[in-house]
Amino acid sequence: MLTIRVANSASDIQACLCIRDEVFIREQGVPEAEEHDSHDEEACHFLALKDGHPVGTARVLLRDNGTIAKIGRVAVLRAKRQQGVGRALIQAIEQDASVTAVQHFALDAQTHALPFYMALGYSAHGDEFMEAGIPHLHMSKANPKRGGSG
Ligand code: COA
Repeated sequence: MLTIRVANSASDIQACLCIRDEVFIREQGVPEAEEHDSHDEEACHFLALKDGHPVGTARVLLRDNGTIAKIGRVAVLRAKRQQGVGRALIQAIEQDASVTAVQHFALDAQTHALPFYMALGYSAHGDEFMEAGIPHLHMSKANPKRGGSG
């Protein structure tokens, strides 16, 4: 069974960070100093569990007086991909009560993940840019609950 919850306990947050270490640092080769940043302290972390075991994570930062939710650090353990975990994480974030004032969701997508986000209603804009040595594009989606545009 797949469960998504806000990581409120120290052990849940640790589980999120362990998944990120595995995916971004060990699998993708992102330098540790770039992966771990000060935004983690203010972020809302989400944890996906499959049959009780941590398998995925993402974090959300509120910006512009809470009108923009910046989604980041979306990661699913390699062995658990293509099973709907990533989609469930994004959908749980969009449904979370803490984003009710949000007009837009924004994220910086690794270009390989574009189809994943497009299938969830996100549009790409601007030019490709490099971050941690990986090509990215800005993407966004209006919060359907707020009737925002763009
Ligand atoms: N390319 C194309 N389509 C993809 C895709 C990819 N890389 N990853 C997922 N999809 C599609 C799936 O096929 C599925 O489509 P369907 O509904 O038609 O079956 C849909 O997107 C949902 O996929 P899901 O199984 O929920 O995704 P996932 O659990 O595999 O998670 C990532 C997707 C990107 C989070 C995961 O591949 C990952 O952690 N990658 C490494 C870290 C990373 O790159 N994170 C993104 C940083 S921006």
